Amino acid sequence: MGNIVVLGAQWGDEGKGKVVDLFAERFDIVIRYQGGHNAGHTVRIQDRQFILKLVPSGILCGKLAVIGNGLVIDPAALLEEIEMLEKAGIQVRGRLFISNRAHVIFPFHRMLERISEARPGRLAIGTTSRGIGPCYEDKVARRGIRMADLLDRDNFRQLYDALAEDKEVVRTAFRIGEPIDFAAIRAQYEEYAERLRPMVCDTAKLLNEAIRSGRRLLFEGAQGTMLDIDHGTYPFVTSSSACAGGAPIGAGVPPTAIHAVVGVSKAYVTRVGGGPFPTEALDERGEALRRVGVEFGAVTGRPRRCGWFDIPLLRYTAMINGFDSLVITKLDVLDQFDEIPVCVGYKLHGQPIDEMPATHRAMSAVEPVYEMLPGWRSSTFGLTRYEDLPTRARQYLDFLEERIGVEIGCISTGPERDQTIWRPGGKLRDLLER
Ligand code: GDP
Ligand code: IMO
Ligand code: MG
Repeated sequence: MGNIVVLGAQWGDEGKGKVVDLFAERFDIVIRYQGGHNAGHTVRIQDRQFILKLVPSGILCGKLAVIGNGLVIDPAALLEEIEMLEKAGIQVRGRLFISNRAHVIFPFHRMLERISEARPGRLAIGTTSRGIGPCYEDKVARRGIRMADLLDRDNFRQLYDALAEDKEVVRTAFRIGEPIDFAAIRAQYEEYAERLRPMVCDTAKLLNEAIRSGRRLLFEGAQGTMLDIDHGTYPFVTSSSACAGGAPIGAGVPPTAIHAVVGVSKAYVTRVGGGPFPTEALDERGEALRRVGVEFGAVTGRPRRCGWFDIPLLRYTAMINGFDSLVITKLDVLDQFDEIPVCVGYKLHGQPIDEMPATHRAMSAVEPVYEMLPGWRSSTFGLTRYEDLPTRARQYLDFLEERIGVEIGCISTGPERDQTIWRPGGKLRDLLER
């Protein structure tokens, strides 16, 4: 039985929510393996729109959903999301399982992040201010608190008080005037613990038993490969392993349990927050992409930076993840352009380069080399058959596919599940049927 990872091939917001929702009916369990409520995955089902932050998108079509050990969880955000889903008539209890090894975000993580981002002289990453980075810092520093600790009352008090003491030292050292009411936070988290308790378990055991009994797993990446802590545009990245390699670690399944990797990419590029973006369009065409594509953050509402399709970037993320197939989303957003620039190569200090620069300084100095492709100037919105695409739209896709060297198995032409084109003869369909 094939288990598949679906993840972002760019800087996030590629349309993973839609794609996971589309694929999920063929799977039994959908699993998030990294990140936290910095993610915002939009799923549109007829006139209803859901923005999922922590709960895997598979919950919407009745599948089991797992929040893996690789995540950092803000209990308040999670409880709020569960309540939102239940109010909308989606059954969550009994279907959502939370790893006992996932780490817990506290309000002081958010506060420290805000202050660290605003410090003069520091590179501002433009984070989502959800406390994600500081919580992962505590995880790696081996002083973090995990769901299992939160549920173990006496143990929690001890661990929490030690962590609070550490944070108080930091607060004083950095002369942060804002007081932190550690006792109130502790009491609040003891209450959250009781509400979350029925959903917390050893999800690695659950998933491995599911694999043994022939269940199919779909791993839902958050963020995107260029935001991956190791392979992205460091330091303008998130703090987790958003690439496919993060899936086995963040879910507790062997790498051999993953059979295929599907990358999701827009037909152009967007990025939220700071950091290099070689193909960013700072002119009115970039504005047009933002307006037509409604490119505003699903979590923070920030305008997304917009630019042109970047083939070297896709070749790089295909290398890191080993994409078996690509889903290209938001093709319809390009309908209006007479011609569409596509970046086909990078130059650095005037010389062509064939690798992704490692420093943000070099990455910021990259000069994109463009080829102009003719636009199709007709609506592709909502199309469902490949034959119905304008010839120039097909040529655009063929060009990307050929240059990236990975098949485009599926094309999204609108936010709804059925606004999708399956590529005739593509192997993606086979991968999903397996
Ligand atoms: P994610 O974080 O990767 O799940 O993506 P987001 O939900 O943050 O952003 C993608 C946005 O594009 C959402 O508002 C989707 O509803 C929308 N969307 C997804 N696919 C398409 C498409 O093919 N065309 C259009 N016009 N919108 C799309
Ligand atoms: P989804 O899953 C787009 C960006 C932030 C910032 C950087 C670090 O919806 O694609 P963080 O709060 O994670 O420490 O911020 O990462 N970022 C995202 N950008 N989509 C996301 O998630 C993102 N999650 C984080 O804007 O630049
Ligand atoms: Mg998003």
